[in-house]
Amino acid sequence: PSNIRLGIFGFGCVGQGLYDVLQTIEQAGIEVAPICVKDKEKPRSLPASAFTYNPQDLLQDESITLFAELISDADEAYSIVKQALVAGKTIVSANKKMLATHLPELIKLQQNYNGTLLYEAAVGGSIPIIRTLESYYSSETLQRVSGILNGSSNYILSKMESEGLSYSLALQQAQKLGFAEADPTLDVGGFDTVNKLSLIAAHAFGVTVKPELILRFGIDVVGEEDLEAAATIEARIRLVAFAEVNPFNELNLHVLPTFVPAQRELYHVVNETNGVTIDPVFAGEQFIKGRGAGSHPTGSAVWADVSAAISGYRYAYRKTKIKTIVLNQDKKITIY
Ligand code: HSE
Repeated sequence: PSNIRLGIFGFGCVGQGLYDVLQTIEQAGIEVAPICVKDKEKPRSLPASAFTYNPQDLLQDESITLFAELISDADEAYSIVKQALVAGKTIVSANKKMLATHLPELIKLQQNYNGTLLYEAAVGGSIPIIRTLESYYSSETLQRVSGILNGSSNYILSKMESEGLSYSLALQQAQKLGFAEADPTLDVGGFDTVNKLSLIAAHAFGVTVKPELILRFGIDVVGEEDLEAAATIEARIRLVAFAEVNPFNELNLHVLPTFVPAQRELYHVVNETNGVTIDPVFAGEQFIKGRGAGSHPTGSAVWADVSAAISGYRYAYRKTKIKTIVLNQDKKITIY
């Protein structure tokens, strides 16, 4: 295709990852407009001429119809994505918090203004989980989707169990390697994982659930004695996001540190790797794993979305058969 101008917001871990990926794909046919960043003083790997500081420089530029929103501030990200969609443009986002919080509205905006929003990089890093659930399983009846969706938590648990690292040292390493959120409480408290589970629930089961309603515990409640207890029964503790529908069409959702026995695929998911087990009724259990965090793996998922968007791909958002969402023993939401 002839050159397509891409407007990128953010040049942090993921933005740089995307930029590097674009440099190495010779035939990409993508021209990157000046990248929109916030902090003028921050030293960067590209000359100042490669940047702009006002989001409107990109949003108002009529020669740009395709954007990648890769900033960490969820409120700013929301404003940018909304403006792009209302203008009927295409935008790719990696901001799981913003997406999970505003998904019902963002779905409506796409319908009303004919804009397109893709967000593969927001869940599972490099794993193609959203598009897989959307496209491949659209005709299958899904029973359960469960997975490890936070690279930092998994990295910390792995380092504690295999190298005997302390929790705080393992967390510091996860931060140094660019896996952790700017506020790592989001990782270790399970908040990042509920955001991702809520996006998975939308594409696997057609329901949008506010992430803050989902039952959640993070790895900050796991002690060394728990890891030892797990080892004695040939299991590992993993932070597992779980969505399962029962025969009454009730959907159970939760994020909990979980004993995972050695015979399960998730047991073998170590370090920043993410893994998702999908249980379609007719096909039986399937499993997908790959790097769940980090600059290039996440950048590659953004590129996959950019490329899919260029060929006209959009999410269909499946219709739901779910009648009730079970959030914990006392709390249920009925879907009308
Ligand atoms: N902080 C996130 C993680 C980054 O550790 O998985 C990828 O979403």
